[in-house]
Amino acid sequence: MDVQALKDSWHLVTRSGDQVPLYFYSALFLVNPETRDLFPVSMARQRDRLVGALGHIVSNVDRVEELVPFLQQLGRDHRKFAVTADHYPAVGRALLATLEHFLGEGWTPALAHDWAQAYNLVAQVMTEAANESSKTAPPWWEGEIVNHEIRALGVAVIRVRLNYQYPFLPGQSASVSYARRPRIWRYYSFANAPRQDNTVDLHVRVVDGGTLSTALVHGARHGDILRVGAPVGDRLTLSKDSRNNLLLVAGGTGLAPLKALVEQVMYDGPPRTVDLVVGARSGRELYDMEALAKMDAEHPWLNLYPVASHDPLYRGTRAYAVDAALQAWRGQDVFVCGSEQMVQATVARLLDAGVPPEQIHFDEFTSDRGRES
Ligand SMILES: Cc1cc2nc3c(=O)[nH]c(=O)nc-3n(C[C@H](O)[C@H](O)[C@H](O)COP(=O)(O)OP(=O)(O)OC[C@H]3O[C@@H](n4cnc5c(N)ncnc54)[C@H](O)[C@@H]3O)c2cc1C
Ligand code: HEM
Repeated sequence: MDVQALKDSWHLVTRSGDQVPLYFYSALFLVNPETRDLFPVSMARQRDRLVGALGHIVSNVDRVEELVPFLQQLGRDHRKFAVTADHYPAVGRALLATLEHFLGEGWTPALAHDWAQAYNLVAQVMTEAANESSKTAPPWWEGEIVNHEIRALGVAVIRVRLNYQYPFLPGQSASVSYARRPRIWRYYSFANAPRQDNTVDLHVRVVDGGTLSTALVHGARHGDILRVGAPVGDRLTLSKDSRNNLLLVAGGTGLAPLKALVEQVMYDGPPRTVDLVVGARSGRELYDMEALAKMDAEHPWLNLYPVASHDPLYRGTRAYAVDAALQAWRGQDVFVCGSEQMVQATVARLLDAGVPPEQIHFDEFTSDRGRES
């Protein structure tokens, strides 16, 4: 298989921008209209999630071994979209038809053969993992909102009670959907370690014009039902073998998975210290201070540093989270979470200051997860 030709041809196709998903979905829905019902009602209003990732992943087939855990998780996770093994050939055909359309004369029989083979390889890993997980786990869990609090402008803390046992690791997230926005799934991180009563806390911030975040913060209420996919992600989970001290750096709702890590240390019992820097633009956006201050007062191994970067009226420390983090760094493993911009800027500053890259763990609240590949 000529993998370089796959990459080069995908690169050429992506130059046509939004025309690519438009063509792909027309090809898919025209030939296989039954697949339309798997996708959100209004596809025009949202950014494409599938096509860009699909082409990227398939054209990186030379890394398939390294990508296996990600593809298995993706395959298992596709069960929540009601995708079955029978749908894969249709998506493969639509992908090939799209490539043929945009490559014109560059679409040779050899290239067609290689794309089909690469797609089948990736599809096989995904479908096998999905079949395996269907023996033990539901395609999604249902969760009733048992508490919904608006904590700051555009930020809600939502407690959800799941209907079956839900094993997850602190630091993980899951995709969530809400009946009033059917088939829209977005990732949210759990803000707690697993509990006996099967409840999880979500910290949701409204993104400007955001479909699901707006509905969850301003529309959802006590008693509403959410669907929750399987837990995903290992970027912010703690290694079983390490007891290193931790420095956690949160921007906005990036606090959620880091608060879960604090709870994990609380339950595991510390011989380790935890420094938690919580940053926001203004003091009013520090939406979880009451709970954090209580934890801080109860646990001598925990040090809390709340900071606001752009608030002349804030009585506490006025600084960016990264500045407070650099002051608190004394060799700890560092975990960073927040917006893409905050995480990138923070990680760059930590590296500049000499924090070893292998000690920096980070995750960004972006709008998709296809990037993981
Ligand atoms: C692994 C992971 C964990 C996450 N955990 C959390 C969490 O705990 N709490 C939380 O509040 N959010 C979290 N997010 C972000 C969340 O998944 C959604 O992206 C966010 O809520 C917006 O969804 P929406 O449907 O409202 O916006 P959309 O309708 O998808 O987008 C509306 C507009 O906003 C832009 N946009 C979408 N998402 C973002 C974003 N995150 N930042 C900036 N611009 C964006 C889009 O490009 C679009 O222009 C997480 C994301 C990932 C990948
Ligand atoms: C090799 C095969 C495939 C790959 C690599 C792939 C990859 C992806 C990725 C990365 C996403 C985004 C995930 C997320 O945001 O959580 C996605 C979303 C999705 N995929 Fe797939 N996928 C494949 C096959 C399929 C098939 C066969 C179907 C069935 C028609 C399908 C239906 C969907 C749907 C409905 C979404 C959500 C789209 C949206 O919210 O707009 N996928 N896929």
